[in-house]
Amino acid sequence: MGGRRILGWIVLLGVVLAVGAFAWAGRYGELEAIAPPDQNSFDRQLVERGRELTAIGDCEVCHTGLAGIPFAGGLALPTPFGTIYTTNITPDPDAGIGAWSEEAFRRAMHEGVDREGRYLYPAFPYDRFTLTTDEDIAAIYAYIMSDVPASDLVPPENELGFPFNIRLSLAGWNLLFLKNERFQPDPNQDEEWNRGAYLVEGLGHCGSCHSPRNLMGAEVNHYDGGFAEGWLAPALNENSTAPIRWSRDALVNYLYDGWDRDHGVTAGPMTPIVNHLYDRSEDNVYPMAAYVAWLGGTPVPTSDEAREAAADRIAFANEVEWDEANPPEPADEDLARGAVVYRDLCAKCHKQGADIVPLALTSTVNFPDPANILRVVRDGVRPPRGAMNRSMPAFGPSLTDENLVDVLRFLRDRYTDKPAWTDLDKAVAEARAELH
Ligand code: HEC
Ligand code: HEC
Ligand code: HEC
Repeated sequence: MGGRRILGWIVLLGVVLAVGAFAWAGRYGELEAIAPPDQNSFDRQLVERGRELTAIGDCEVCHTGLAGIPFAGGLALPTPFGTIYTTNITPDPDAGIGAWSEEAFRRAMHEGVDREGRYLYPAFPYDRFTLTTDEDIAAIYAYIMSDVPASDLVPPENELGFPFNIRLSLAGWNLLFLKNERFQPDPNQDEEWNRGAYLVEGLGHCGSCHSPRNLMGAEVNHYDGGFAEGWLAPALNENSTAPIRWSRDALVNYLYDGWDRDHGVTAGPMTPIVNHLYDRSEDNVYPMAAYVAWLGGTPVPTSDEAREAAADRIAFANEVEWDEANPPEPADEDLARGAVVYRDLCAKCHKQGADIVPLALTSTVNFPDPANILRVVRDGVRPPRGAMNRSMPAFGPSLTDENLVDVLRFLRDRYTDKPAWTDLDKAVAEARAELH
């Protein structure tokens, strides 16, 4: 960490603590514990709506730990400030939120405070969930209280250093970064756009991964791309590096199935998101796709228009596809070594005419950072539920670090017109260290 960053930290910390002290006066009170609500007391239609919304909010993805008990918490979330564990949100009155009234639940979702009035860490994306309407929060509450089995699992304590272990400092964070306001529809946009914006910005909390964060962990530069669990969550705005622009239909395919013929397959932390959207209603996923397409810039092209506009890239992609008549013979020694790895291990699937997206059109090879492609090649593709036949074996065990660097350098050179990735050796070494 450079000196300027440390200085930045100290200044920011001072601000947080000062504002936190200031906010002490306005701290939250405890809301009364209730007897867990009768499971059958909720309207079934409300519960079903809640099920749908809970999936869009990925509540289960985050609130399920290694024990594998849904919603019982315990998943470790590494942050620059230490490790935060998700809590048990099953209806168990002691370990979970069974003693929480709907009011307490709503306050947590809108303001990031627990029933007893303690501030919650923004690793829980309440800065996003705050946009959600009271009605939708009531539906999620109904679903959790009636259909999620209670579990008495107690997740581990957070491991945070001073001063981040002082929850009151979050009052400062909230003053700076939490806008406690519900979603306001934009009258200049149509109903589909507004529905999509509501879900993507709010419950879907897509920007939590897809936006960079400042030193205090707050989102900046909306959808400019961020990092999540070592993976690049790429830019979704006009800085997207996808060779063919994302149309609404391509996004529908990607968000439902995790695969699109113009873009390739999803991987890493995006896979559980997509798996949860797989069974979701068109009423929700289509608008989300429409909104994300709009983020990429207006006017939004149809798939055909996007392909037409990318005709050069497609021609290039086809030209460099691997086949008998078109083997690579890079003059450069380093690239030639990568080509040999490719010929021996990859070409049998990744070649002209295979039922597979040409590598030159896939996102990962075009990303500004090799984090994802290196994990895909190392760990293989464990495809999402909507694209089960598209799996690829892990090459981690059969490739040395040098082989891996060589083949990645070769892929970037052959299949894109983008500058070479720098520090590939370092990226590979870092990714390997993560495994231990
Ligand atoms: C990105 C991960 C993540 C997602 C997604 C997420 N949560 Fe959480 N949630 C957390 C973390 C982490 C905490 C604990 C924060 C803390 O310790 O301060 C938490 C805490 C909570 C709490 C407070 C519980 C308590 O015992 O204090 C509630 C309620 C909650 N989440 C509900 C939800 C609901 C409902 C959803 C889906 C709409 C959801 N969460 C989605 C990470 C997540
Ligand atoms: C937990 C972090 C996380 C969250 C939350 C998340 N994403 Fe992603 N997303 C990723 C990662 C990582 C990738 C890269 C996947 C890959 O390399 O295959 C990705 C890829 C994508 C892509 C492909 C972009 C491209 O150019 O290839 C789209 C589109 C996308 N996400 C949309 C969404 C939407 C919409 C949401 C909200 C519903 C969302 N994401 C929520 C992490 C996340
Ligand atoms: C047994 C067949 C097979 C082999 C061998 C194979 N792949 Fe794959 N690979 C796939 C499939 C299937 C996909 C999913 C993409 C699709 O369906 O379009 C994929 C996807 C990828 C992707 C991700 C593209 C994206 O969508 O973002 C990369 C990168 C990749 N492969 C590189 C390699 C490299 C490098 C090798 C050799 C070390 C290799 N593959 C060997 C079958 C294979």
